[in-house]
Amino acid sequence: MHIVMLAGECVPYAKVGGLADVLGALPRELEKLGYSVSIFIPRYRSIDLEKFGFERIAGFDVPSFDVYRTVLPSSSIEVYLIGHDAFFGRKGIYTDPITGWDFPDQADRWIFFQRSALEFIATTMEKVDVLHCHDHQTGLAPAYLERFYRGYPSMARTATVFTIHNMGYQGVFPADTMARTGFNTAEFFPLSPFEFFGMLNFMKVGVVFANAVTTVSPTYALEIQQSKEFGYGLEGVVRSRLEPPVGILNGIDYDLWNPANDANLAAPYTIDDLSGKQKNKAAVLREFGLDDRRLDRPLLAMISRIDVQKGIDLLIGVLRDVLAQDVAFVMLGAGNRDAENQIGRIVSDFPAKAALRVDYDDRLAHLIEAGADIFLMPSKYEPCGLNQMYSMRYGTTPVVRATGGLADTVQEFDPLTGTGTGFRFGPYDALHFKEAIARALRYYADKPMWRRVMANAMASDFSWARSARRYADLFERFRKD
Ligand code: ADP
Ligand code: GLC
Repeated sequence: MHIVMLAGECVPYAKVGGLADVLGALPRELEKLGYSVSIFIPRYRSIDLEKFGFERIAGFDVPSFDVYRTVLPSSSIEVYLIGHDAFFGRKGIYTDPITGWDFPDQADRWIFFQRSALEFIATTMEKVDVLHCHDHQTGLAPAYLERFYRGYPSMARTATVFTIHNMGYQGVFPADTMARTGFNTAEFFPLSPFEFFGMLNFMKVGVVFANAVTTVSPTYALEIQQSKEFGYGLEGVVRSRLEPPVGILNGIDYDLWNPANDANLAAPYTIDDLSGKQKNKAAVLREFGLDDRRLDRPLLAMISRIDVQKGIDLLIGVLRDVLAQDVAFVMLGAGNRDAENQIGRIVSDFPAKAALRVDYDDRLAHLIEAGADIFLMPSKYEPCGLNQMYSMRYGTTPVVRATGGLADTVQEFDPLTGTGTGFRFGPYDALHFKEAIARALRYYADKPMWRRVMANAMASDFSWARSARRYADLFERFRKD
């Protein structure tokens, strides 16, 4: 079976968030199960073609684009880049790094990517069994396939799967965008698959046209049908599908995220020998210019896009009170400038024990996961979330809001039974967040209990194997011959 995936990002070539980790890992697991997978992303300016062994294999004239190809490291998965400098030859992936805002020609960039990728796939590839599209940047593709490419032998029987990684970003554009998609503008009318409150919504198109819709955790699959808070206006559209969305939890890449052999760490460690974790803690404190003699006090950490989704307002609400206690805190993240400044002002009042690094730094993210004691993830909503799983694998106890994938992956620690992997809170408010942090700090002070939470988390299975099997089952069910 040949599966073709379309997405906006893929590790190790281009990454903004967890979507890239998924694209870098799920295809490998599918390959292990005997499937052949190809991946398409745009050729961003930041991708070093030579370093990754990309070869230019085709050029198309109308519209004009180039196609580059390599294989995903240590696999035979082919990765294709669609190149067109006017759209992708600039700095940035979704947002302009100077202004921090979405590129103004966002719609045209993704229309171009999807049409070009489908043009290339339809005309040059052998039979495609499944077209698997990820998030709104590729939401039009199932519709393009139905409207323009069914006549090609390669795509005559292709099944389409659309995975929602984040309902909070739907790709909503002015109605006149429809004329530039290539679809018949007569198809744009109230309540049509294309129309959403008078606008064109890429996510909606994907949800309506795809043969199967999935999302990245079972709880999020329910949440996005239940209310506007999670569905962002598409809850009714999701509900009206004959088959509801299937929630398949993301895994994490055990080769890239393994404290026993992670090259980004100051020292490796395992569940049986945790001594290396203290060295990483000292390294993190030094890296952030904090007092590294107080290894006894708990180090709280956060690594995150700075965005309303991630519960940054709750963090800002509790941070001063938390820092008044005997703890240290580091944060790595970038995004909303206002929120960055607010957090920056708070930590600057505690210079020996708290710091914020406004940056995107993969090496430092690994080091923090290893060196911290407690990882904070108070998300307003979280389709799946990967950082809580990285944390648990690294013996860094998560404190999470019980929503979406956080609810599905973190169990509250129960001192009576000794079970559980972290601390959770329900209502989205500072008080409940503060209480959950307080519980974590209380058990941190009780060393045998704390070791138990860490051991439970480190022994949990977050590998991709099981989830890949579920995708494979879905692909088998929807394949058309
Ligand atoms: P989301 O995709 O919503 O941002 P996830 O938890 O699924 O959330 O994935 C986030 C990914 O991005 C993780 O791999 C995390 O380590 C990484 N990440 C987020 N912010 C940064 C940053 N500032 N520097 C390095 N890595 C980051
Ligand atoms: C999105 C979600 C995140 C999820 C990731 C990968 O970025 O915000 O929760 O883990 O996609 O599916």
